[in-house]
Amino acid sequence: MAQSSEGYTGTAKFLHWLILALLVAQFIVAWTMPHIGRNTPVTTLISLHFTLGIVILAVAVVRLAWRLTHPEPKPLDGVPPWQTGTASIVHWLLYVLLFVVPILGWINASWRGMPVVMFGLELPQLIGTRAAGWQWTGGMHVLLSNYAMLILVGLHVAAALYHRMIRRDGVLERMLPGR
Ligand code: HEM
Ligand code: HEM
Repeated sequence: MAQSSEGYTGTAKFLHWLILALLVAQFIVAWTMPHIGRNTPVTTLISLHFTLGIVILAVAVVRLAWRLTHPEPKPLDGVPPWQTGTASIVHWLLYVLLFVVPILGWINASWRGMPVVMFGLELPQLIGTRAAGWQWTGGMHVLLSNYAMLILVGLHVAAALYHRMIRRDGVLERMLPGR
């Protein structure tokens, strides 16, 4: 589909800010919940971490489907190509992480034999409890969420602020509601 010159659709903006709100809640829960070790019981906070993570995965699916059918608007005039190129790379890496992080978490919860319950319904175990060769998924889940995701979101927010405060070119404004 060709890029439109208009801004983001209301749906794209809503999904963008919804994911931010869910991620803020998710990191608060993740950093507050008990450390997950070999025999950790699944407390309410841990269970909430799983549920919120699956909700983020579901919203990411809707968001990616919307994005594939409604491409990003054309870059604003005057923004250097290296900036629009870097922005695209960061946006796609963020999309990848919105899938890979919760799926790794789900695989690791399965590996630990911890139930993942969504509104009373237990979701399928993705791999068998303590299945050989899958232990690394926990460490990778923590690494990608606590480091890769936070660093990329940090870069992304710094870029938005740079456009707002230094270039003053309207890039941030086009993701804000009602424009
Ligand atoms: C985008 C969604 C998610 C984010 C941002 C996220 C983030 C995190 C973070 C930051 C930690 C480390 C907490 C600490 O510092 O001690 C963690 C641990 C964990 N999360 Fe998630 N999580 C997400 C989704 C999920 C999902 C969907 C599940 C399971 C269904 C899950 C299962 C786990 C498990 C089992 C651990 C412990 C891993 C280990 O230490 O070996 N997470 N998560
Ligand atoms: C305070 C936090 C945030 C701010 C200020 C912000 C700002 C923006 C702005 C201004 C754009 C439009 C860029 C352009 O038109 O080139 C954008 C797009 C985008 N943002 Fe954010 N963002 C934030 C958080 C996040 C988070 C947490 C994620 C995902 C983990 C994310 C993922 C994306 C993606 C994938 C796009 C591309 C457009 C799309 O496909 O919807 N952003 N953001």
